[in-house]
Amino acid sequence: MVRLSGRVAIVTGASQGIGRAIAKRFAAEGCPLLLVARSAPALADLESELARAGSRDVVAAPGDVGDPATAAAAVHKAVDTFGRVDILVNNAGVGLRAPVARLDPADLEEVFRTNVLGALHFVRETVPHLLRQGSGLVVNVSSIGARQPVPYLGGYGATKAALASLSESLRMELDGTGVAVLTVYPGSVETGFKAHARGEPYPERSGARRLSPEDVAHGIVRAAELGLREVLILSRGERLGLLAGRLAPRAMERVLLRRYGGTGSGAGGRPTKA
Ligand SMILES: NC(=O)c1ccc[n+]([C@@H]2O[C@H](COP(=O)([O-])OP(=O)(O)OC[C@H]3O[C@@H](n4cnc5c(N)ncnc54)[C@H](OP(=O)(O)O)[C@@H]3O)[C@@H](O)[C@H]2O)c1
Repeated sequence: MVRLSGRVAIVTGASQGIGRAIAKRFAAEGCPLLLVARSAPALADLESELARAGSRDVVAAPGDVGDPATAAAAVHKAVDTFGRVDILVNNAGVGLRAPVARLDPADLEEVFRTNVLGALHFVRETVPHLLRQGSGLVVNVSSIGARQPVPYLGGYGATKAALASLSESLRMELDGTGVAVLTVYPGSVETGFKAHARGEPYPERSGARRLSPEDVAHGIVRAAELGLREVLILSRGERLGLLAGRLAPRAMERVLLRRYGGTGSGAGGRPTKA
């Protein structure tokens, strides 16, 4: 079992939601932390909260992960401050909802820039340090949408499938080096993610049981400690849905269309002629 205590971790998208929960959990495990997100005040707020809880080895490097300079500055600051980097958590991400036939290429490009290139910039900056040390862990937060595509989230799912593919290839390429790669597939999590997403409003799903950000943070820490290559962090309903999709794919597609097809305004989400 791998102990996380004392391992220096970079967490992207740490200002809120899942990333904030991951940072708090890693701090509680005794990890010195470097926090990344665009919102400098939110990162400063988290730094203060962690300091009050007794974690003093926390620094922030605010910036847009889609800019390669953000990753270079963040990794430099982590090494400068703590002398090393052990864990990279590529968590920063943004949603996108639109029928594929009406996907705005500019929206998709922006979301790819954050969800895929953002992670890649951090991998490119961090992995050489991990290889020199002969140890380390890269955690890539994908989505269950990469494993089970759903209607109206095809663009977003494509970014998460791309990230998962990069993650899997990276894991194989680093085999035998002491550097591990963990791909994380969370289900639906209660955060501000839908409100921050590009494209059309997500439909309200009243009554649906959603995971908490802390569930995801816990799942990642457990998977890291156990040395897993991938982890699916899902509600019971999502696990059953995944199984049903394998056993009866056509029937499950109709369920997914009903579940993901509406809009927040109730206007229906079916593609219309342009
Ligand atoms: N919530 C879900 O249901 C769910 C399910 C599966 C997977 N995920 C994945 O989990 C990750 C976290 O999502 P969340 O639910 O916590 O969403 P969230 O509450 O919207 O948080 C997103 C985080 O990413 C940061 N971020 C976004 N764009 C950024 C950029 N260009 N540069 C730097 N930081 C950026 C945000 O910080 P700033 O705004 O301060 O930059 C924020 O800290 C994402 O990768 C998401 O795709 C979420």
